[in-house]
Amino acid sequence: MAKKKIMKRSWAEPFKIKVVEPIKMTTREHREKALKVAGYNTFLLKSEDVYIDLLTDSGTNAMSDYQWAGMMLGDEAYAGSKNFYYLWDNVKKYYGMPYFVPTHQGRAAEHIISKILITPGDYVPGNMYFTTTKLHQELAGATFVDVIIDEAHDTENEHPFKGNIDLQKLKDLVKKVGAKKIAYISMAGPVNMAGGQPFSMKNLKAVGKYAKENKIPLWFDATRAVENAYFIKEREKGYGKASIQKILHEMCSYFDGLWVSAKKDLMVNIGGILATKSKKVFQAARNMVVVYEGLHTYGGLAGRDMEAMARGMEEMVDFDTIRARIGQVEYAGKRLEEFGIPFVKPVGGHAIFLDAKKFLSHLKQDLFPAQTLAAEIYADSGVRSMERGIVSAGRNKKTGEHNYPKLELVRLTFPRRVYTQAHIDVTVESIASVYENRKSFKGLRMTYEPKYLRFFQGRFERI
Ligand code: F0G
Repeated sequence: MAKKKIMKRSWAEPFKIKVVEPIKMTTREHREKALKVAGYNTFLLKSEDVYIDLLTDSGTNAMSDYQWAGMMLGDEAYAGSKNFYYLWDNVKKYYGMPYFVPTHQGRAAEHIISKILITPGDYVPGNMYFTTTKLHQELAGATFVDVIIDEAHDTENEHPFKGNIDLQKLKDLVKKVGAKKIAYISMAGPVNMAGGQPFSMKNLKAVGKYAKENKIPLWFDATRAVENAYFIKEREKGYGKASIQKILHEMCSYFDGLWVSAKKDLMVNIGGILATKSKKVFQAARNMVVVYEGLHTYGGLAGRDMEAMARGMEEMVDFDTIRARIGQVEYAGKRLEEFGIPFVKPVGGHAIFLDAKKFLSHLKQDLFPAQTLAAEIYADSGVRSMERGIVSAGRNKKTGEHNYPKLELVRLTFPRRVYTQAHIDVTVESIASVYENRKSFKGLRMTYEPKYLRFFQGRFERI
């Protein structure tokens, strides 16, 4: 009998499991009931009714023993906690920004920076959008303009850097409204809503140069910057031998400032960062943080939270850690491909994005195909995912009509260091089973719509 030869050596996680948390396996009947109570919105499910939770990678990470040990060292002083100073040192070290204020999570930093940099009537160009980012820009009076490359809207285009900014689109906007009307350029990497797609260093450099020439501030949503650094290392010429820490540092060097939802890269459960090179912005932020978050040395966080963030930063740049994280997402992609399931290519850093327009091609977009798909995957197996399509895109501010985004996706997001390969296999098989039954789904009708970020609390019923 022919024996198998080793083709390529596998990677494995650079950790072992010390503590386990039991999860509940439920019946179809139980899940149908739970889904109805939740208005067919996976955000409204009780977590105890969920088997494998791929709703988000935000704050759902497993901390290391090093981080947990640090929690015991929390200095819960109201002012000047030592954990704050340690965290600040690490912000300087890993992101290269001299000034920093902590916030309780990412959107709090977005709120503060939008208020500081935006004058009502301004424009904010960005590489696609993120829900909370765009909302805070709009609440501060700006108009958001998408300047991502066209390839980002094509789920099958295998461009290695679909998060890139289209410089021509940016120039056209500046020409139309004038550089003075651009509050700042908002650049995220990887781009969550495009499928976790990175930008290249080459593109960033070009955008940075243009921004400088035109005196437009360039700001970085660095929430998953380490994943972007990993993709640069893997895909961009000249970076193969550079460390993740070095690439991250170079990326940040082109920006005037950045914000981070620490609930992602930093592998903690809560926390946010606002950091900048500008003393003026820093002073304004430090003042505003006391209004909305707490004193500028804790920003809505406990000392122990800041300690866990500082330690998480040291772990996030470890190559084996980030390779195993993205390797798991890539494994899920390979398995889904075996069943011919349509999803965004190439596989992103934090998630697989199923293409609901292709998956449920018989449903029109106003029947909420992605919302339907997320609900049916839950009903099938208890795997929780999230809609990223017409519901997330909200309504047009002026006309009140639905925004009809090109991408109608369901996101399966992988928490860091939480699930095993067997969990991934179970998930893939459930999606394959829903795919086999896809013609039987008729879509959803919206029965309740909140004013802001409707995807969180909107309610639906089956048609
Ligand atoms: N920016 C990006 C790119 C994000 O993905 C998020 C959050 C935020 C900002 C806001 O940070 O949640 O700490 O207030 N994304 C989560 C997600 C919610 O599931 O993708 P936050």
